[in-house]
Amino acid sequence: WNRWCCSPSRPRVLLLCRYMGTLGSQVMCDNIPGLVNKQRQLCRQHPQVMQAIGAGMKDWITECQHQFHSHRWNCNTMTRDHNLFGRLLLRSSREVAFVYAVSSAGVVYTLARACSQGELDSCSCDPSKKGSSRDSRGSFAWGGCSDHVEHAMRFSQTFVDAKERKERDARALMNLHNNRAGRKAVKRFMNLECKCHGVSGSCSVRTCWLAMADFRRTGDHLRKRYNAAVQVAVNQYGTGFTAAHAHFKRPSKNDLVYLEDSPDYCIRDHESGSVGTGGRLCNRTSRGVDGCEVMCCGRGYDTSRVSQTTKCECKFHWCCAVHCRDCHQQVDVYTCKGQR
Ligand SMILES: *[C@@H]1O[C@H](CO)[C@@H](O)[C@H](O)[C@H]1NC(C)=O
Repeated sequence: WNRWCCSPSRPRVLLLCRYMGTLGSQVMCDNIPGLVNKQRQLCRQHPQVMQAIGAGMKDWITECQHQFHSHRWNCNTMTRDHNLFGRLLLRSSREVAFVYAVSSAGVVYTLARACSQGELDSCSCDPSKKGSSRDSRGSFAWGGCSDHVEHAMRFSQTFVDAKERKERDARALMNLHNNRAGRKAVKRFMNLECKCHGVSGSCSVRTCWLAMADFRRTGDHLRKRYNAAVQVAVNQYGTGFTAAHAHFKRPSKNDLVYLEDSPDYCIRDHESGSVGTGGRLCNRTSRGVDGCEVMCCGRGYDTSRVSQTTKCECKFHWCCAVHCRDCHQQVDVYTCKGQR
């Protein structure tokens, strides 16, 4: 009912919605599994924000799956499990480090965008971006809407980190570190976007705003951090990390950190949250991680011939249409054999 009645195209029922929203938020917040008390409290205070965060989840999950689509671990989620990632998150692996970072980055991104789009009562554009300022090309006036990333980072920190603040063990420290690395990654990709004014677009006067880049930039960045993630152990005071191996560097604030080696994700293993690679598509000629050799873990693959339809023989007609034929093509696809 919330989506129906709270849509902006129904402004007259909006007030009623707000009222029902407050009642509904108790029900909603009590029914999200896995929240700690502090998070439930924040949820009840900010039901709109929670809905935005919930709606934004599919975006960071999609990004995670994009980054790992050709890997043995492909950021798969368990639709039947009430825990989205199954038992995976119980481990302290590099993959889990990525999931924490990309999800907390996702919360920041979603929130800042919702603020800018005027979807939330509690925030809007960055109020500090007013007056004038300068960049390398000279002075400009702040205008338009700058994404209020600082606000989104603060809320994200309060909300997402609340869970880890209850504990003070190695795993909590790991999560806090990766959450922060994720939040910082969003802030890194803010662009100054400007509009030119002045005589025939001479750009003698500019108005500018700070806008977040596409979430893909954050995803790409965190993927690189995943590759360079540092295995750590907690120091003797339990306050920070030391590198787990003598030849590893100490992690910086932007690095992802993990505690445990990863399973190989080759076979289905409930305990480690691995679904195995049986049935996954692979590339017969690639020597990389998407190649059948690596992807199928030496178990071999099945070949099947499927028919694919593509647009072909496209002709451009003046003006302005393109006409194509449908071409049917037989292509071989390779899928990993399952374990015996
Ligand atoms: C398979 O891998 C080869 C070599 O890396 C690449 O050239 C080719 O485009 C890939 N094929 C598909 C279908 O992705």
